[in-house]
Amino acid sequence: MPDLTEFSKNAARAVDAMLDELLPKENEEPKWLHSAMRWSTFAGGKRFRPTLVFAVADLFDLPAERVGRTAAAVEMVHTFSLIHDDLPAMDDDDLRRGKPTCHIKFDEATAILAGDALLALAFKAIADDDGLGTDIRLKLIAELAEATGTPRGMVAGQQLDILSEDKEIDAEELERIHIHKTGALIKFSARSAALAAGASVSDLAAITEYASKLGLLFQITDDLLDVTQSTDVLGKTAGKDEESRKSTYVSLYGIEHAKVLAADTKEAAIVALSHFDERAEMLRAIATATLARTA
Ligand code: IPE
Ligand code: IPE
Ligand code: MG
Ligand code: MG
Ligand code: MG
Repeated sequence: MPDLTEFSKNAARAVDAMLDELLPKENEEPKWLHSAMRWSTFAGGKRFRPTLVFAVADLFDLPAERVGRTAAAVEMVHTFSLIHDDLPAMDDDDLRRGKPTCHIKFDEATAILAGDALLALAFKAIADDDGLGTDIRLKLIAELAEATGTPRGMVAGQQLDILSEDKEIDAEELERIHIHKTGALIKFSARSAALAAGASVSDLAAITEYASKLGLLFQITDDLLDVTQSTDVLGKTAGKDEESRKSTYVSLYGIEHAKVLAADTKEAAIVALSHFDERAEMLRAIATATLARTA
C-alpha cells in the first residue's frame, strides 16, 4: 500500500510554500485584506484537492513542480468558496478550520473581498505559470472557470444548495447539487494534472470518471460527518445542516443508507481506475481514505 499520509504531508507542504509565495504579504497594503486572505488560507485545511493534483501528476510521472501553481490555484478557489459559504447570507457559520470564520475575525465586507481576491489570484497563478505551455495554461484556465462558475461549476451548486433549504428534493436533484458544489472542483483537480501531463484521451476519460465519483463521495461523507462528528474534530460547527434544513444525503436517505451510497460511490471510483495498473494505487488509497475519513 502506498503511504498516503506521507504523500499528503508532502503535498500540503508544497502547496503551502507556493501559496505563501503567491499570496500578497500581510505587511503590504491593504494589510487588512491581505491578512484576511492569509487567515483563511492558512487556517489549517486538509489540502485534499492539492493532494489529488499531485497524486494524478505522480501517476503520469509528471514532476510535482509542474503542477505546484495549479495545486495552489485550486486551493485558493476552494478557500474562496469556504469564505463565502460561511457568510451570514449563505450558511452563516462562525467556525472554519478550527478558527473563527473570515467575517467573524475580520468583517463581512472584507470576507467578501478576500474571497473575490483569492478567486482572481487563482487565475493569475495559472496564467503566469511558465512551467506549462500556453495551450495547456489556456485549457486549465477555461476548465477552472467552468468548474468554479455556472452552469457546470461550484457557484451553480451553491445556488441550488441554497434554494433547496426547507424543500423536499429528489435523489437526482440532490446528486446534481453535490456534483456541482463540491464535485466540479475535485474533478478539475484531477483533470488539471492529467492535462498538464498530456494524458491520452482514454487516460483522461478514466481520470475524469474517477474524480467525478470521488467528488460526489467527498460531499456525501461531508454530509455524514455533519451529523456523526463533533465540532472539535471537524473544526466547523457540527449539526449545521439539520439546523439550516439543508437537503443532504442524510436528510434524504438517513445515516445508514447514506453510508451504503458512500461505499457504492467509492467502489465506482475504484472501478474507473481499473483502466490503470498498480501505478494508480495512490488514487485508490485516496478513494478509500475519503470513504473512511473522520474530518
Ligand atoms: C469542505 O471542504 C467543504 C466541502 C466542499 C465539503 P474540505 O473538507 O476539503 O475543507 P478543508 O479544506 O479541509 O477545510
Ligand atoms: C460546501 O458545502 C460546498 C462549498 C462549495 C463550499 P457545505 O456548506 O456542506 O460545506 P461545509 O460543511 O460548510 O464545509
Ligand atoms: Mg454550504
Ligand atoms: Mg457550509
Ligand atoms: Mg457540509
